[in-house]
Amino acid sequence: MDALTLRRPDDWHLHLRDGAMLAAVLPATAAVMGRAIVMPNLVPPVVTTSQAAAYRARILALLPPGSRFQPLMTAYLTEDSDPDDLAAGHRDGVLTAVKLYPAGATTNSHAGVRDLSRVRRVLERLEALGMPLLVHGEVTTPEVDIFDREAVFLDTVLSPLLAEHTALRVVFEHATTAEAVAFVRAHRDRVGCTVTPQHLLANRNDMLVGGVRPHFYCLPVLKRARHQQALVQAVTSGEPSFFLGTDSAPHPVSAKESACGCAGCYTAPVALQLYAEVFDAHGALEKLEGFASLHGPAFYGLPVNPDRIRLVRGQDVVPSAVAVEGPAAELRPFLAGRALAWRVQAEG
Ligand code: NCD
Ligand code: ZN
Repeated sequence: MDALTLRRPDDWHLHLRDGAMLAAVLPATAAVMGRAIVMPNLVPPVVTTSQAAAYRARILALLPPGSRFQPLMTAYLTEDSDPDDLAAGHRDGVLTAVKLYPAGATTNSHAGVRDLSRVRRVLERLEALGMPLLVHGEVTTPEVDIFDREAVFLDTVLSPLLAEHTALRVVFEHATTAEAVAFVRAHRDRVGCTVTPQHLLANRNDMLVGGVRPHFYCLPVLKRARHQQALVQAVTSGEPSFFLGTDSAPHPVSAKESACGCAGCYTAPVALQLYAEVFDAHGALEKLEGFASLHGPAFYGLPVNPDRIRLVRGQDVVPSAVAVEGPAAELRPFLAGRALAWRVQAEG
């Protein structure tokens, strides 16, 4: 197969940031994706419906002319979140979902939730509305090894949470382990799961053998090869629980290439091409459309995108840098400079 036409995909987990960074990264996603679930971990975070509406307006104002890209907004769950405000945001079409960051789990998550019993009223409202809770699934207990934080979260946090809130619908974001794949399968009636390109293409050896490669560092951190294989098997199986979520998370090069580098891989300019590589390498190109374009809308109860895009086999290269106005200066995409086996063909 040298070309592939698919329904226009969506990105069900994306960091767009704000200001100059937003202006720099938005075009790459808007060129390929029909919609994206926009993460609320700005500084300060997007907590209320009115903050989400204002952020959405800033995104829409920066879209290239003629773009039909739709940002789907999320609210950052805090222990002070107001269930009535979130419900009104959902009713009015401002909010698609609510995002749970355990406090301290990742970039800009200090305002997150420490004690889940303090957000019980919000979770009950989400259940009643069928509004999804998007979960960064890692415990932050200092004693728990960073490579075990996802698996421990499933056992000690998410299992009891689903047992207590029997109608709660959850997206387990950026799964990184075989345990997460098994958990999602066991709860397929109400748990969906996003998988990033870096967790499909790489494992912790790629990040650490022969030198530390900061552009492979994201959270949840890359795991062993057997976990990578479990993720590849899950997404190429065609099971509707698994869908595309890049977790593209831009940070300035200076913040990544540092003695204490930030977590986050900037994948947006090449994400679909990288997913295509994974599906191609496993003889599963015919399963790419489900993962990229159909399973996500089905979980969220949204229509699939009306138009299609075309992927063609051919030489391309991951850009070595993306410019940002002002002091942030530039971004280094994941796998910068590496050859790409697929290209997204321009419309028309
Ligand atoms: C994300 C970011 O930089 O905002 N970083 C990451 O490593 N994935 C936050 C997140 O999704 O955990
Ligand atoms: Zn993320």
